[in-house]
Amino acid sequence: MKKIIAFGASSSRKSINKTLAIHAASKVPGASITVIDLANYMLPLYSVDVEAEIGIPDATHQFSELVELADGLMISLAEHNGTYTAVFKNLIDWLSRIDMNVWKGKPILLMATSPGGRGGESVLNAAKSYFPFMEGNIVADFSLPSFYDNFSNSGIVNSALALQLDEELAVFVHSLEKVETVSSIKT
Ligand SMILES: Cc1cc2nc3c(=O)[nH]c(=O)nc-3n(C[C@H](O)[C@H](O)[C@H](O)COP(=O)(O)O)c2cc1C
Repeated sequence: MKKIIAFGASSSRKSINKTLAIHAASKVPGASITVIDLANYMLPLYSVDVEAEIGIPDATHQFSELVELADGLMISLAEHNGTYTAVFKNLIDWLSRIDMNVWKGKPILLMATSPGGRGGESVLNAAKSYFPFMEGNIVADFSLPSFYDNFSNSGIVNSALALQLDEELAVFVHSLEKVETVSSIKT
């Protein structure tokens, strides 16, 4: 069974990106899904001085291990002032201090949503251009604009957008099928 980790790149308890990531993950057939809450990764604000003082926090290694054990990643990016939320950027900065192999080449379905009409397009574009420098293998992406108009408890209500997510999910699932599962590599 393929192992997927899913998270919204936000520390908000009511994160709409976490909601979207969980929704998308629920549509992957026969996979084991681990949902990560970034509120559990509120690390000290990165600085070279803090690193010299305390080293790399244990939670950084724990997050890196979760990525290592996963076959694929489903990430939905919250957008703050056109880019990553502070909690996510901070986590990336700490992860990059282990090494630059942050995303370990795992297939990624990268998403974003926001209440506005651009659907987090700026942060999505930022990640699409920079994740590859951190071994981020983005195989599919999806932006959901106007979250509160287009999403209900039953999922995406706009049929064109729902179809678009299904198409991106199909590409992501296909890319998972092409990779040997992590557990089979280990045994
Ligand atoms: C400090 C701050 C900055 C924001 N900047 C943007 C922005 O640049 N673009 C945007 O579409 N929404 C922006 N928003 C609105 C967020 O998209 C909205 O709060 C959304 O719910 C964040 O995702 P989350 O619920 O997953 O945390 C901002 C919100 C905050 C609090």
